[in-house]
Amino acid sequence: MAKLIVRNSGPLHGEVKISGSKNAVLPILAATLLTEDECIIQDAPALRDVEVMNQLLMSLGAKVESDLENNIVKVKAEGEISCEAPFELVKMMRASILVLGALLLRSGRALIHLPGGCAIGERPIELHLKGLRALGAEINEQSLAKGIVDAKADKLTGSTIYLDFPSVGATEVIIMAATLAEGTTVLENAAQEPEIVDLANYLNKMGARIKGAGTDTVKIEGVDKLHGVDHHVIPDRIEAGTFMVSAAITKGRVLVKNMLPDHLKAVIAKLRECGVVIENTDEGVIVDGSQNTIVSTDIKTLPYPGFPTDMQSPFMALLTVAKGPSVVMETVFENRFMHVAEFNRMGANIRTEGKCAIIPGGRQLHGAPVIATDLRAGASVVLTGLVADGTTEVSQIYHIDRGYEHFVEKLKALGADIERIDD
Ligand code: UD1
Repeated sequence: MAKLIVRNSGPLHGEVKISGSKNAVLPILAATLLTEDECIIQDAPALRDVEVMNQLLMSLGAKVESDLENNIVKVKAEGEISCEAPFELVKMMRASILVLGALLLRSGRALIHLPGGCAIGERPIELHLKGLRALGAEINEQSLAKGIVDAKADKLTGSTIYLDFPSVGATEVIIMAATLAEGTTVLENAAQEPEIVDLANYLNKMGARIKGAGTDTVKIEGVDKLHGVDHHVIPDRIEAGTFMVSAAITKGRVLVKNMLPDHLKAVIAKLRECGVVIENTDEGVIVDGSQNTIVSTDIKTLPYPGFPTDMQSPFMALLTVAKGPSVVMETVFENRFMHVAEFNRMGANIRTEGKCAIIPGGRQLHGAPVIATDLRAGASVVLTGLVADGTTEVSQIYHIDRGYEHFVEKLKALGADIERIDD
């Protein structure tokens, strides 16, 4: 099994360029199924999850030309599109569910075997299904009880849908399905993440009529047809946040290029509360952890524009060494503290109680064998490895490959002592 070996690296210095957003490119790739024309997706990050989405599109009958070295994916979903998403791909990536709406529109049926819960929580899809039902899809309840989504619809019709929770995936699936439905759909309590705005911009370029993406009410007027477009994906705000923390935790100074600070307001505010100096320049965002003592702060994860759950574990890495105690409250996922055991193996001494983690802070961490328990947790134990005494050995790094483009190379360029060992 491949591993990362991380050693105490001293302050990181230099510049890093942020890649295209994983969570934006996945729904956008799913939406390429909504037209028979060719779509060109630029700034697609070279990630395992993008490869899996490409495979999924191909398995459904789309022609995919993937040049991830140059961050370009071209998709042409001409002719007949299969309605069944293969289980081998769905189980590798839960975001496969994003094709649900497109399959219904293209084939009148969508058949997807769900993989069940994952490390960070149950990840139900009842909100996606509630939305599709409201648009006129029939969901086979017996199949659903066995973990198979079998949805059918001769046509979809606009409707008003209220989401009980602003689920990112449900918002994306419903927006996609509503673009080609008959009439107008109003989606209330929609998720407001920047990735939703990017998806809506992409769909609008294709000819969709979507208003209000990025607010809690999205209005979609159905159109008859969508056409091919060329689209650049937005930069990855979670990758940007992770590199901001890498500068802070090592007391370094890093210029983060190609990040959109507006997408990271909560993270920037919290880093400033910790004493990190952050300056916006024409070239990018300078993150300086060397000016002040890094002090503790409390974090509560929330849907956007609140503090992102995907930044919870990277930020907790910083809080393990910050001066003073902190409380981290996770409200988005029910089981997203798997990384606590790994931090504790390194001497962090964190206690969890329900939704909260209590972090004493001010620890000198020590290197240990640790596990990348999920994607963001994987990046987080690398961050703690950079400031721990001795050597940290990170296993199960396929999680990191799913979501961080050239992570090791980018860290090395900043002076990190990190190497990858492939078996
Ligand atoms: C997306 C992101 C993921 C991020 C998450 C929250 C992608 C590919 N992934 O995941 O990185 O951590 O948003 O910002 O974009 N929920 C329900 N019922 C549903 C759907 C969701 O209860 O039908 C709950 C989930 O259990 C979870 C919460 O809502 O507790 C957030 O899930 P959701 O916003 O749907 O996340 P994803 O779209 O899966």
